[in-house]
Amino acid sequence: MQDLDLSTIKLLLVDDEAHCTKLMEAFLRQAGYSRITITNDARQALGLFQQVKPDLVALDMRMPHMDGFEVMRQLRQVIPAEDYVPILIVTGELDAPTKHKALAEGANDFINKPVDATEVVLRIKNQLQTRRLHQQLQMHNEHLEAQVRLRTKVVEQTQLDLLNRLVLASEYRYDPKGSHAWRVGRVAMLLADMKGLPPDQIDMIKKTAPLHDVGKIGLLDSIIMKQGTYTPAEWEAMKTHTKIGSKLLADSRSPLLMMAREIALTHHERWDGTGYHRLKDVQTPLSGRIVALVDAFDVMTHPCSYKAQLTLVQAREEIERHAGTQFDPELSALFLQLIDRDGEGLLADSTALQLFA
Ligand SMILES: [Fe+2]
Repeated sequence: MQDLDLSTIKLLLVDDEAHCTKLMEAFLRQAGYSRITITNDARQALGLFQQVKPDLVALDMRMPHMDGFEVMRQLRQVIPAEDYVPILIVTGELDAPTKHKALAEGANDFINKPVDATEVVLRIKNQLQTRRLHQQLQMHNEHLEAQVRLRTKVVEQTQLDLLNRLVLASEYRYDPKGSHAWRVGRVAMLLADMKGLPPDQIDMIKKTAPLHDVGKIGLLDSIIMKQGTYTPAEWEAMKTHTKIGSKLLADSRSPLLMMAREIALTHHERWDGTGYHRLKDVQTPLSGRIVALVDAFDVMTHPCSYKAQLTLVQAREEIERHAGTQFDPELSALFLQLIDRDGEGLLADSTALQLFA
């Protein structure tokens, strides 16, 4: 272990007997310590400790006004749990119970009076080395924790990056920038926030809602690129994208992919149970009900091959009309508030970068 740099070490001596602190100070200066703070009044110990922030405290036990136990109690309250500031008891003969009590209350070692120069210097050095080791271990742990945080961030970023590219791949034939997907992600996040979901759930909905149509990757060009109205058979083919999406995202233990799957499967359910898979009201998970509403709103308010584009006012009326039949009534009420609050802002384009930042 490296030698201690004594010029940086700060010591605090607390003892009502001035001749004792003077003697200790002389021994310590001779050994190379220079930053020594002394008080002969125990009542000043706490204030000096907070001011000086010493590396070690040498403390007498029997003092007027306040004994060593009380000083230790005060000091232990202000020393952070992760810090190790040794307290050395400097005292005359102590009976065993008192010694035990001192150890139990945080004393780290004892020096007997009358003090002996060699013993003082060696015992203080031992304790300072223990403090140094503690600090090194602390730094090492902090370094490791920082590395784990960094690596976790990289893994999370990679996961989001892949999800982002999966969205782009699935929408590539009809919306190469994924504009609809990112808008749905952003607005679903706003609605989840209005609903009062916890921040981690809001974040997950924001990241997984863009994947709602990932199953369209499995549809034929003739369906996906069709302009105009679908035949009943084409509608049936179109509807399979929820099951295809669910299959693509199945069997993952990642909470993110599990929610993405839930949304992909249920985002065309209706509150009255007449949706793709006939799930009724809360049988459809909340994430699916949120995306069902936001997806429908985005399709209404943007150009679409099979439906006329609506104005914001018309879309608002449409949601109001279908609350409780197509859409979750409570979410619909919140969404109407969102429209009234954010208006045109809900129609704005978003990007993966904005969503995943
Ligand atoms: Fe869909």
